[in-house]
Amino acid sequence: MSVIRTSRIGQTVGAGVVLAVTVALLMTPVTGGAHVDSTELTDPCGSCHVGHGAKGEPMLLKAEEKFCYQCHGSQEERAEMVAMGKLKPGVELDDLSAEFNKAYGHPVKRSGEHSPIEILPDYAGSAVSHAECVDCHNPHERVTGKGDMGYKVKGYSLSGQYLEESVYEYEICLKCHTDHLGTKTSDRSLVKAFARSARSQHPVTAPSTGLGSPSLLDKTTAGQYMKCSDCHWSGNEEGPRGPHGSRHEFLLSGNYSRDPYGTESPFAYQFCYSCHDRMSILGNESFPLHREHIEGDLAQGTKGTSCYTCHASHGAPDSPHLIMFNGLAVSPAKSGRPASYDVTGTQSGTCVLMCHGYNHEPGSY
Ligand code: HEC
Ligand code: HEC
Ligand code: HEC
Ligand code: HEC
Ligand code: HEC
Ligand code: HEC
Ligand code: HEC
Repeated sequence: MSVIRTSRIGQTVGAGVVLAVTVALLMTPVTGGAHVDSTELTDPCGSCHVGHGAKGEPMLLKAEEKFCYQCHGSQEERAEMVAMGKLKPGVELDDLSAEFNKAYGHPVKRSGEHSPIEILPDYAGSAVSHAECVDCHNPHERVTGKGDMGYKVKGYSLSGQYLEESVYEYEICLKCHTDHLGTKTSDRSLVKAFARSARSQHPVTAPSTGLGSPSLLDKTTAGQYMKCSDCHWSGNEEGPRGPHGSRHEFLLSGNYSRDPYGTESPFAYQFCYSCHDRMSILGNESFPLHREHIEGDLAQGTKGTSCYTCHASHGAPDSPHLIMFNGLAVSPAKSGRPASYDVTGTQSGTCVLMCHGYNHEPGSY
């Protein structure tokens, strides 16, 4: 089985993955280059714009993603741009159209829904749910070298404040993944899961603790951050970075089975195992009952279950160690006490719940 890279946290620098670099860059808003400064374009404006349109009319050769695919699409499309004298010959760019043809991804193909003056998630009085390249990318802005993005597009802060220019990647995501796309009122809403007050989270908005995860293949230290796109991307090392498209559900970098009666295999939980060593998890390095729950116990005739039965993917507002039970598998304890988990010390904790007919009232380790 081809192993997906151990981690997409931060940028790859040399052989290792250096989170600290990302943090530093994230803290300093990127003010670097723009498409317009690119030496690869023949004309800073004319490579993209044609003629002199009316005010506010960008006058582009093609609309929406098809406009970007002229250079970021197939080899043939790029050749056409070179022939038209808009792009220098020999420029190598990834084919983004291939990404958006994958089974899961952002629906850039839906057309006619984006307006350059919109303020998402709601404009002109009606909620829209669309995604175009320019919702996430500023066409007049580009990365500083082949590295970090300049996130100069509209977004929302964690506290719900509208931003003309996002600084963090997640602020772009929160522009749309709130009310109408997400589930704002549920404990799984992104805003709640990633609130800085959440008791535990994958470190997107709050820094890593450096303590939480002996299983990590790339060890973190305190104070490091992840991006949404460390988990939501194609998983193909050779392809472009970014939450464009994936063969895997939820636009994840690997397969993730959420089946309450799932059978354990490297593929079933490939996504989690890309950062958390399978051997460590099944070797019970942290939770002494991991293996028993994940693989089940043939002798006792019990089935295994998915990580998702116990763990939230984003954050757990009220619980340590990302514990959030899947209501499809776990129910209140026999006495009616609601399902709950708490820590009682280092690598010890206690559960009150009913799962697959087993009553834990409490179950302790
Ligand atoms: C890589 C292609 C590209 C280049 C290079 C480029 N633009 Fe644009 N420009 C766009 C796109 C795409 C839009 C539409 C943005 C939207 O729909 O939100 C746009 C929109 C505009 C607009 C409309 C208002 C706005 O800001 O959205 C103006 C004015 C503009 N460009 C001017 C320029 C000028 C001047 C240059 C050269 C210095 C330039 N552009 C270079 C792609 C480009
Ligand atoms: C006329 C050709 C052309 C068009 C049209 C174009 N780009 Fe680009 N784009 C380029 C080139 C060339 C580069 C690489 C620039 C460099 O390295 O100097 C680039 C770089 C980028 C990068 C940074 C990629 C990296 O490797 O880090 C992003 C993101 C991007 N473009 C997005 C877009 C989006 C979104 C659109 C449509 C709104 C678009 N581009 C339209 C030519 C184009
Ligand atoms: C302009 C609006 C917009 C922005 C900005 C946006 N998204 Fe989306 N996203 C969508 C839409 C629309 C869908 C498709 C929803 C559907 O079809 O149900 C989607 C789907 C997704 C999905 C797949 C969900 C599923 O159930 O399969 C993920 C994951 C996702 N987006 C992550 C992100 C991340 C990460 C960012 C920030 C880098 C982001 N999105 C920014 C509009 C947006
Ligand atoms: C791209 C890498 C990556 C992926 C994929 C990933 N994690 Fe994590 N995980 C991390 C990092 C980084 C930490 C934070 C460690 C820290 O705080 O020091 C972490 C921490 C955790 C923790 C400990 C939280 C705590 O507060 O004790 C749990 C539990 C966890 N992950 C479960 C999962 C599960 C389940 C999956 C699959 C659905 C998954 N992770 C996928 C990178 C990842
Ligand atoms: C029966 C519930 C349950 C299931 C199923 C489960 N976990 Fe856990 N997991 C826990 C508990 C409880 C802890 C906290 C252990 C402690 O006290 O430190 C934990 C801790 C962790 C941690 C943080 C410490 C470490 O080992 O790095 C990671 C990561 C993790 N689990 C990943 C997974 C993955 C991946 C799966 C699925 C393959 C999974 N868990 C399945 C209950 C579960
Ligand atoms: C550690 C990996 C990880 C990180 C970081 C992460 N996600 Fe996810 N995300 C997942 C997994 C796994 C699922 C599918 C299972 C689930 O829904 O919990 C998911 C599901 C989703 C969904 C679809 C279901 C829903 O809740 O609406 C969206 C949208 C989404 N993520 C957006 C985001 C955004 C935006 C960010 C950054 C603020 C982000 N994710 C950060 C792993 C991650
Ligand atoms: C939902 C938001 C979103 C949409 C929609 C989106 N992108 Fe991206 N894209 C990103 C993010 C975030 C990254 C950077 C990820 C990172 O920092 O590793 C990225 C990275 C890129 C890169 C650089 C890839 C590399 O590895 O060098 C290019 C080029 C690009 N996008 C072009 C496009 C084009 C063209 C479209 C439309 C057809 C598009 N993107 C649509 C969010 C988006």
